[in-house]
Amino acid sequence: MKVLCFGSLNIDYVYSVDQFVRKGETISSNSLEVFAGGKGLNQSIALGKAGASVFHAGIIGEDGAFLKEMLGDAGVDTRFVEVSSDIRTGNAIIQRDCKGENGIILYGGSNYAVTKEMADKVFSLFEAGDYLLVQNEINEIPYIVEKAYEKEMKVVLNPSPFNEKIFQIDLAHVDCFILNEIEAQQMINDWADKNTIITMLREKYPKAEFVLTLGEKGSVYFRKEGIVEQKAHRVKTVDTTAAGDTFTGYYIAGLLQGMAIEESLGMAAKASAIAVSRKGASRSIPFKEEVLRFEE
Ligand code: RIB
Repeated sequence: MKVLCFGSLNIDYVYSVDQFVRKGETISSNSLEVFAGGKGLNQSIALGKAGASVFHAGIIGEDGAFLKEMLGDAGVDTRFVEVSSDIRTGNAIIQRDCKGENGIILYGGSNYAVTKEMADKVFSLFEAGDYLLVQNEINEIPYIVEKAYEKEMKVVLNPSPFNEKIFQIDLAHVDCFILNEIEAQQMINDWADKNTIITMLREKYPKAEFVLTLGEKGSVYFRKEGIVEQKAHRVKTVDTTAAGDTFTGYYIAGLLQGMAIEESLGMAAKASAIAVSRKGASRSIPFKEEVLRFEE
């Protein structure tokens, strides 16, 4: 089984600040660092470093060649990463404060140049039982999900960043949602607590599985019947960027490698704990050997 991650590739400009800038304010940053990022790229790198057979599909501009190289270095197949000569690569302006928390502004750039023809070409390599993983940082997602559904692939949606475009997707064709608490609340349009979120999502999408990430409070897997809880590991937080992406990639890699849900959640929790203890997005994602050695 293989996984197709059809998603964004961003150049992340990370500004270290004492506090996030407020409306009408100008502040100086303490440093600027440039990293490979994008939820799609980060999740592909996590899958690759976890040892899964992963293909990334997406579009960069000529300024984004290093993103493709980073994917390759992590063991990701990049034959479906196209280069556009007339659009710049997507980017993210990231403020990171002294607690390691972030605020992100996205510019979609080449991530929004996906065409149905490109999707058709990509899907020709995949078959029933393979996984599709998508986030919400590229265009044509409803079409991509339908192609995967027609092929009887397992569709995993990370509805991040959450906006109204999520509801243009046929969500009945999603097999698994991986989302954080705020995204879950946005999906049910209710600022509900964890238990209410679980009840409402089960009612709304009775055929789907869910993995709800809760930051320091861990994560919970549930479907119509059945629930598995996983604690978060306590580490010194340096940078939370891509922690969720690391979790997503490791969780899916675990399933592909035949692990039970409990074990996949456990690997994902360890991998994301390591990621938050380091700076940057994709560069903070550990290889599987390191995750296996991790102790709190
Ligand atoms: O999830 C983290 C990612 O979100 C960053 O790498 C940034 O590019 C944005 O897509």
